[in-house]
Amino acid sequence: MKQENPALFIIFGGSGDLAHRKLYPALFNLYRNNYINKKFAVIGTARRDWSDDFFRDTVKESLKKFCEDEKMVQEFSSHFYYQSHDVNDSQHYITLKKLAQSLNDKYELEENRVYYMAIAPSLFGTVAGHIKSENLITDNGFNRLVIEKPFGHDFKSAKKLNDEISQTFDEEQIYRIDHYLGKEMVQNIPVLRFNNPVFNTIWNKDYISNVQITLAESLGVEERGGYYDGAGALRDMVQNHVMQILAQLTMEKPEEFTSQKVHQSKKELFASLKMLSSDEVDKNFVRGQYGVNLNQTQISYREGPNINPESQTETYVAGKIMFDNDTFRGVPFYVRTGKRLPEKSTRIDIVFKKDIKNIFTSLNESEIKENIFSIIIEPDQGYELLMNGTKVGMDFATDTFSMNFKRSAKELDKVPEAYERLMVNILDGDHTNFTHWDELSSTWKYIDVIRQKWDEEKEDFPNYRSGTFGPKKADDLLARDGNQWVFRG
Ligand code: BG6
Repeated sequence: MKQENPALFIIFGGSGDLAHRKLYPALFNLYRNNYINKKFAVIGTARRDWSDDFFRDTVKESLKKFCEDEKMVQEFSSHFYYQSHDVNDSQHYITLKKLAQSLNDKYELEENRVYYMAIAPSLFGTVAGHIKSENLITDNGFNRLVIEKPFGHDFKSAKKLNDEISQTFDEEQIYRIDHYLGKEMVQNIPVLRFNNPVFNTIWNKDYISNVQITLAESLGVEERGGYYDGAGALRDMVQNHVMQILAQLTMEKPEEFTSQKVHQSKKELFASLKMLSSDEVDKNFVRGQYGVNLNQTQISYREGPNINPESQTETYVAGKIMFDNDTFRGVPFYVRTGKRLPEKSTRIDIVFKKDIKNIFTSLNESEIKENIFSIIIEPDQGYELLMNGTKVGMDFATDTFSMNFKRSAKELDKVPEAYERLMVNILDGDHTNFTHWDELSSTWKYIDVIRQKWDEEKEDFPNYRSGTFGPKKADDLLARDGNQWVFRG
């Protein structure tokens, strides 16, 4: 049996959507699997005036589809407490502190605290400030701050936020969530690279022609217009998720896979990002916004709730990212992400150079294809390798075939949710799969150049139909280099 990690979770925004959809189910699974069991308590805070009982009912409701064992759910939710809370009111933090102390004693929590910010980002700094001024930090146990995205909307705001929370918490106490780093196949990338000589030796500019990262979503913005219209795909997906996948793929091998060494590797990698000048943005990045679908059964982005009818917000981004380092100099990393694309698919396609001298005179050279190695992250999980060979039969003729590995449905069923893994990491004090400030500051600086350029110039939106793979310009981006997207659905 795993050792139990006692802790008090104070979830700011405990009545919200994220808490109910992701955090409570994740905590419940930790409970089921003995990471937390008897020695834990959760305080949910929000403005509304709820009783503990009402709060517990909402928690139970959110667990319904995960567990039919009512007794277990009942026992789990009995550890939940509610505190009506105005984030600006010092008095409320004093009440919160008293409740935290009494729960600490009741559940033997060893003064361990996880402060989880599941609230509007504009409030992160205020809450962190009060945690310090009203002295909620304990002397003996751990005090860990968990921060959801978005962490700022540009470098300047991210720095301001970081400065604010750093008044109360050290970098080692801060856990910035990027849920892509909690995904099974994203965590798998370094193992694949570093534990397989067959990949390790060819993972560089000598062998790789280009790399393509696709984070495609079939859903639109739906009810999230209020947030999304001020954010857009570049901030929502590229600055964080795409950049972190890129780092998993390209960071130099750390001396050992510890948080400190991994972050050092990532820091060096991002320092080698080839920054774009404003004039280079249009040649290297493409933006799109979805319109209606062919049958006009789906509304366009601009027609969605809480969205400016003339919105210039992009729901699609494709770009070419390069590094100025010895390993990948000259290799284009094409990235794309978009909403309302034909299907949900997260994958990486690595295209290798076709640097071979064809010695088989009877084989047609033009039919020899590049090797392509694909890492399928979601919704399936697996790998594909496209290879050259011969056709069956007496003719000595060229053929290409693909070696596939796919995890079975049974295995996929057992894959833990990203949030579950990340919660365990937080309890264990393992930072490896969280975003360090150094990484954030570099990626924001990179993104800011693109954002500023786009803010200056209007685009003719909408420029792609719902249900298609984005604007044509995204194909042109690769075609200019003589390349094309491997994945086309
Ligand atoms: C979130 C974005 O971070 O990631 C959403 O805010 C996006 O816009 C989501 O839909 C995608 O995550 P996943 O895990 O469904 O690929």
